[in-house]
Amino acid sequence: MTVVGPFGLSVRDQALEADVQAGLSAVEEGLFEATKSDVPFITEAAQHLVLAGGKRFRPLLVMLAAQFGDPYAPGVVPSAVVVELTHLATLYHDDVMDEADVRRGVPSANANWDNSVAVLTGDFLFARASHILADLGPEAVRIQAEAFERLVTGQILETAGPREGQDPIDHYLDVIAGKTGSLIAVSGRFGSMMAGAEERVVSILTQYGERIGTAFQLADDVLDIASDTQESGKTPGTDLREGIPTLPVLRLRAHAAASGSADDLALCRLLDGDLTDDVRHAEALAGLRVHPALEQARRDTVRYAEQARETLAPLPECAAKAALSELCDAVVHRAG
Ligand code: IPE
Ligand code: IPE
Ligand code: MG
Ligand code: MG
Repeated sequence: MTVVGPFGLSVRDQALEADVQAGLSAVEEGLFEATKSDVPFITEAAQHLVLAGGKRFRPLLVMLAAQFGDPYAPGVVPSAVVVELTHLATLYHDDVMDEADVRRGVPSANANWDNSVAVLTGDFLFARASHILADLGPEAVRIQAEAFERLVTGQILETAGPREGQDPIDHYLDVIAGKTGSLIAVSGRFGSMMAGAEERVVSILTQYGERIGTAFQLADDVLDIASDTQESGKTPGTDLREGIPTLPVLRLRAHAAASGSADDLALCRLLDGDLTDDVRHAEALAGLRVHPALEQARRDTVRYAEQARETLAPLPECAAKAALSELCDAVVHRAG
């Protein structure tokens, strides 16, 4: 069993391992090339987060999905570069929105330079992604445009909050399917589509991507509360500080409403208040870390990862299917 890629997926099959490693290396080269500009400062800003690393989860999924057709087909690697560049661009923008100062273990672009540089570098990355996408044909452009619309809609809905009368957990699930599930679904779709897999297989891998993408974001939201910077490469409690209620907080609120427990209600009041204050923020984080709501959110993550795994059932048994199944465990494992 060998570990491939920075996400740390264990792969048991040597041929698969070689294909995935080769694909991911080609993606690294593609990312490096795509982030070069004639203006040295743009290159520096665009490569800031490329060189900082990242898990390359989306390119990994593209490579695994490509195994259901010809993994060496010419569109596979560029489509993975497009997806990762798009993801990268959204990180530059997301850190502005979330006022985050650490990303991939280094200062975010907004912290290192300023918001304008971060926003414009994100735009530059989108432009470069579009350029590569144009060579992959109109269908790929349409798929990417639709996913990007969903992603942005998810980010806007997160900022806007639930509609009047909407269940906050339903709203949250819509948000994460949009902001994260959409692009991870494209990873499964592009990999299989570019490799020339059957329509039925492309549709299964798209749905798998959507579901594992939801589990991936749930795990990220648990990690925002449960982990330290060393583990996540980000500042813990960023969502709390920004007043973005993620699943652990929503589960806590539901818990408090049902139990009426004085401690739970006090924690809810703390969370409803101003968490830009460091002392209150630390107290809220500590309270959530030991609350059963966090465990409940972990169980929700497992449930979504299991749904992703079930999606794979109709696929023929092969090393890539086993690796995609393993990916479900790896995503859940991150949340502890
Ligand atoms: C961060 O994505 C944003 C989410 C959708 C959770 P990743 O967790 O894939 O970030 P990197 O690419 O590894 O830095
Ligand atoms: C990530 O949102 C989604 C996108 C960037 C589109 P988050 O704000 O939840 O992700 P992190 O925790 O900053 O990586
Ligand atoms: Mg963020
Ligand atoms: Mg965000």
